[in-house]
Amino acid sequence: MDNDHFNIRQMIRSDLSSIMAIDQKVYTSPWTEKVYEQEINHNPHAYYAVVEIDNVVAGYAGAWIVMEDAQITNIVVDPDYRGRKLGKSLFKHMLQVAMLHGAERLSLEVRASNQVAQNMYRQFGLVPGGIRKNYYQDNHEDAVVMWVNLR
Ligand SMILES: CC(C)(COP(=O)(O)OP(=O)(O)OC[C@H]1O[C@@H](n2cnc3c(N)ncnc32)[C@H](O)[C@@H]1OP(=O)(O)O)[C@@H](O)C(=O)NCCC(=O)NCCS
Repeated sequence: MDNDHFNIRQMIRSDLSSIMAIDQKVYTSPWTEKVYEQEINHNPHAYYAVVEIDNVVAGYAGAWIVMEDAQITNIVVDPDYRGRKLGKSLFKHMLQVAMLHGAERLSLEVRASNQVAQNMYRQFGLVPGGIRKNYYQDNHEDAVVMWVNLR
């Protein structure tokens, strides 16, 4: 399958069943639908996007943008659709949205073991800025804080 018909747009409530299905595949402790609903409908600082292929939601990303600081909350591609540049397309979109909202820097936390995501972030100029020890509750893994200047 190619990416001819991929499309990135803002997440809406009717996407949440697809988001739940992706999260079930990827996470042992996924966010609840209520948390996403709160994020997309009631958090004025949150922006969430989905990527679709042929109208099927294949991944999503979220960010909080507060003044000059943008923070990626999540970026996930359905395992069935990985390796087709959808993650990169989504991340590029999030960088553009952050810049459009006036953010001057963007940061995120990533598991120390997650080399795939770290490789992707490095391609967009993100560099490690610190370590949060025992950050992840499930296995006490450290988080690497990565960031990039957007100005
Ligand atoms: C990280 C993730 C979103 C990437 O999505 P994807 O659509 O498969 O990624 P892309 O095809 O756009 O590739 C993006 C880059 O990731 C890296 N990458 C992708 N697959 C990789 C692999 N198997 N091994 C090493 N690096 C890999 C590469 O740098 C790649 O760029 P390149 O192909 O130009 O070299 C996806 O793996 C995912 O959902 N992972 C689980 C959730 C997660 O870890 N999210 C990040 C939380 S901080």
